[in-house]
Amino acid sequence: MSENITPDRKSILANIRVQRFTPGQHKSPYYDNFKVNVETGMTVLEALRLIKNTQDSSLTFRAFCRSKICGSCAVRVNNKPLLACSTQLMPILEDFKQESVTIQPMRNMPVLRDLVVDIDPVIDKLAKMHPYLMENRDRIPESLEQESLMSKQELSKFDYITDCILCGSCYSACSAASADPKYAGPLTLGKAYRFSADVRDDFKGERMQAAVDQGLWSCAQCRKCINVCPKDTRPAISIQRLRKMSIDDGIHDTPGSRRAKAYAGDVAKYGQVNKPMLPVLVNGPKGWAAVEAADNYLKKHGIEPTHQVCTLDGQSSTQKIYDKVKELESKGVNKT
Ligand code: SF4
Ligand code: SF4
Ligand code: FES
Repeated sequence: MSENITPDRKSILANIRVQRFTPGQHKSPYYDNFKVNVETGMTVLEALRLIKNTQDSSLTFRAFCRSKICGSCAVRVNNKPLLACSTQLMPILEDFKQESVTIQPMRNMPVLRDLVVDIDPVIDKLAKMHPYLMENRDRIPESLEQESLMSKQELSKFDYITDCILCGSCYSACSAASADPKYAGPLTLGKAYRFSADVRDDFKGERMQAAVDQGLWSCAQCRKCINVCPKDTRPAISIQRLRKMSIDDGIHDTPGSRRAKAYAGDVAKYGQVNKPMLPVLVNGPKGWAAVEAADNYLKKHGIEPTHQVCTLDGQSSTQKIYDKVKELESKGVNKT
């Protein structure tokens, strides 16, 4: 007898709590609750469409391709940004062990209505990054019949990020974007890296400066952008690489690049970071005020301050790791 491979189909009468808001009409966002019979396989988008078709035609959300391609349907479900068209509701209900989910618009962007946000401010930031190839004359083929080819190794430096669909989920999850509205954000810096890492491009200096001006060093490397990206494009990794590129490109005069150089220099020298002196290495003479404040605090609590690096067991192992990384880098190995 053949095995029955049809998965168990479940059905839960769930409460779908949706944030509603129309600027100019409502003073602040509020929530509406809709009862929906959620079946195995039903996506968040299908639930929203069912509500719109059968319960409240004024509910507003955005979606086009329904295939995880156009990036237009991103919303937050239980506070996590995701694509409504490719996310099933049943696993979320089961994960949270609740018969209720909350759907909200993405964060860090103005709400136009209900679940629809205005992504234009992010696109404006992206435009400042010159997100296109500026020809590298060394790589232009001699005749129009030839293509501008690159090796697999050259492609591998940025191939992973070409899948970005500009859905904005990473921007919604980004705490640096919440803290500073001027911060470019993960998708924008990811695109800046994508074009800067392309050997057919010869525009690095100006694009790099644009990235630095828009907060390249403000990223906290919390990696939330990596966790929520539906296309696994890993923006935080691109930001790390773009930072290195900017230093290699000669943009040394930022607190972030000075901090990175101080970390690398200390690890190479001592196997660890000399934290007591870090403010001076990062901010120059102005950093002494922070060192003195720390010294006074320690003295107040009966601890004698030191500006020396403490010696720890295992220090030589850290230096070995550092030397290995430098060796791999010199061979052009660039793993994530
Ligand atoms: S790693 Fe950086 S860009 Fe990514 S979410 Fe965190 S702060 Fe934002
Ligand atoms: S990097 Fe990922 S999460 Fe961010 S916009 Fe692109 S596809 Fe969406
Ligand atoms: S509708 Fe296009 S990605 Fe969801």
